Amino acid sequence: MEFSDALRLQLEWGADEALLDTPQDRRRAPTLPSGVQEPLAPRPRLARPVAVATSAGPEASAQLAASCTTLAALEEAMRGFSDCALRDTATQLVFADGAADARLVIVGEAPGGEEDRVGKPFVGPAGQLLDRMLGSIDLDRTKVRIINTVPWRPPGNRTPTEAEIAMCLPFLHRHIALIAPAGLLALGAVATKALLGTKAQNGIRQMRGKWQQVRIEGLPTPLPCLPTYHPAYLLRMPLAKRESWQDLLQLRSWLEDHA
Ligand code: URA
Repeated sequence: MEFSDALRLQLEWGADEALLDTPQDRRRAPTLPSGVQEPLAPRPRLARPVAVATSAGPEASAQLAASCTTLAALEEAMRGFSDCALRDTATQLVFADGAADARLVIVGEAPGGEEDRVGKPFVGPAGQLLDRMLGSIDLDRTKVRIINTVPWRPPGNRTPTEAEIAMCLPFLHRHIALIAPAGLLALGAVATKALLGTKAQNGIRQMRGKWQQVRIEGLPTPLPCLPTYHPAYLLRMPLAKRESWQDLLQLRSWLEDHA
């Protein structure tokens, strides 16, 4: 197998970071220090990094979220919440970035490796593109609120499962309700589907650039929500930046009208 094929295979398996300073050939048996016996018992099999089970339904998160009357209380409650198994594999909760009284809440998918390490959403390559996108319409992180559909990094950066999204949805709604913004920007298919539910019948390519109304638990009226491409998709598909720019222009004029 070519070295590049082996690397690609590891990426497909979910490897996305190197933790050791020196490379190790994992295909060879490890050399044991002299005098150390090979253990007889078979090694426990590693859990596959797919569809991590959750131990309870969304009722637990719904009850907890509903009891939070401030963002600080919500953050503390989420930090202590142990019913979502994503928390066990993530380094830390990635709560939010930006203003607590923002008129626009931007909703991403889930933290990646960089976000998991730093504890802030959108600080990796997709985040740097998001910063440039915001800058192009005279916005920056201090003027918006940035959160994710699920606040813990899924292992190997896989897409969060429906059960994980359902479990985290009450936290997302509560977060939005406590900010009470004028509107939402949904980045990518996962955030769009989580926010729009059954209204998201088409893929992101059909839904992007079209304002929708989203009912948020705890807010008296639905919020306008603009779905657009996720910056990570734009990094892979630079041609889609043209449509994304149209969406940003639309967002800018909407914000001007709703100043
Ligand atoms: N992608 C997301 O959806 N959220 C982040 O925080 C980072 C990358």
